Amino acid sequence: MKKINIGLIGFGTVGTGVVKVLRDNSGVIKERLGAELILKRIADTDVSRDRGVKLDDGVLVKDALTVINDPEISVVIELVGGTGVAKGFILASLDAGKHVVTANKALLSTHGREIFNAAAEKKADVYFEASVGGGIPVIKALREGLAANKIESIYGIINGTANYILTKMTNDGGKFDDVLRRAQEKGYAEADPSFDVDGIDTAHKLAILINLAFGANVKLADIYTEGIRNINQLDIKYAKEFGYRIKLLAIAKSGDSGVEARVHPTMIPAGHPLALVDGVYNAVHLRGNAVGPVMLWGLGAGMMPTASAVVADVIDICRNILNKTSQRVPLPSFTDEDGRAIKIKDTDSLELPYYMRFSAIDKPGVLSKISGVLGGHNISILSVIQKDRKVGGAVPLVIVTHNALERELRAAVKEIETLDIILEKVVYVRIEENLGAAN
Ligand code: HSE
Repeated sequence: MKKINIGLIGFGTVGTGVVKVLRDNSGVIKERLGAELILKRIADTDVSRDRGVKLDDGVLVKDALTVINDPEISVVIELVGGTGVAKGFILASLDAGKHVVTANKALLSTHGREIFNAAAEKKADVYFEASVGGGIPVIKALREGLAANKIESIYGIINGTANYILTKMTNDGGKFDDVLRRAQEKGYAEADPSFDVDGIDTAHKLAILINLAFGANVKLADIYTEGIRNINQLDIKYAKEFGYRIKLLAIAKSGDSGVEARVHPTMIPAGHPLALVDGVYNAVHLRGNAVGPVMLWGLGAGMMPTASAVVADVIDICRNILNKTSQRVPLPSFTDEDGRAIKIKDTDSLELPYYMRFSAIDKPGVLSKISGVLGGHNISILSVIQKDRKVGGAVPLVIVTHNALERELRAAVKEIETLDIILEKVVYVRIEENLGAAN
């Protein structure tokens, strides 16, 4: 049976998972591929730590160049991550005539085009299934399974840490800071959680999905990004009363005047399948104009789910090698190498229902003042909750609007915050009612 040598750079958690999947599933992989995968070399700066997997002598080396320059290795897996040395490793691997598998969403969302162009020049493949949604095959779905469709919308819960924190806050109560601290103690959140809780990791992944869905080379700066640090227990409670759940969503919607691309906490109907995606789970809800809605759900991180996606990419590339082909599917899923000119809409032009919470003095006439300002900005009220009474003190007054223009909503918030009946900054959360479920 034919043997194909592969190399791995970065022997951390996912790298260890790759070794395990290749070892535990070698039989089924061999039967599916018709060839044997040999993990010939692994490079990592730490060659002494026991990862709990047995390697043959000489496999683990310190220098990544030992992998990149090995003429017998056909596929290099990059699992170093980040935008530093990883880019050099990928470009050097392509230059040395190798195909590449990577999970590096930060790198692909910022330098993807450069890497794809380098791969095209070398007629090499760069596969990156593990970069979005861990073990969920969403890249394959967009590049291949849904290739016959115009993609109309993408709604993703694609950061497990943020979803875990929001789920805990929703189910068990607690303040954001306390829930985050407990998640860190249990190892569910990083010591520096900013990429996860500030929506940056989600934006990286959304940039990759937009590239595949619309062929647009979107810049991260064009993706409106807001994290979950300001989500308050009160808003979670009121969301439930209105029949919503709060999720950190990655949203891309295609319309006549451009593509919406945004990441922010969103209120969604409690009965929508995305509202049921809890804990560290991820899900991506796609809508194609022919297929309708499709939802993929699964583990978006972790050793074995992520390794599942990495090894699937290796198998895919090896199938190409065995068939003496490459670049069969254009890497960004469209053939136009430099990306299609697609306008990314700014949030001013969004038209959505909004949840608004005001910390207002409890006295007659407050609601009419607020509704007067909203009316002046053409914002119509769908419902109002004001339960607690604290005469002369501050009470939360909560409003859900009909569809409103965000530009007008922001102007109204600014105006309302100048009123002397308002004691704190106004909180507003965007609501998505439909989420690609129907036209
Ligand atoms: N930090 C990511 C998350 C996992 O919390 O989902 C890797 O993409």
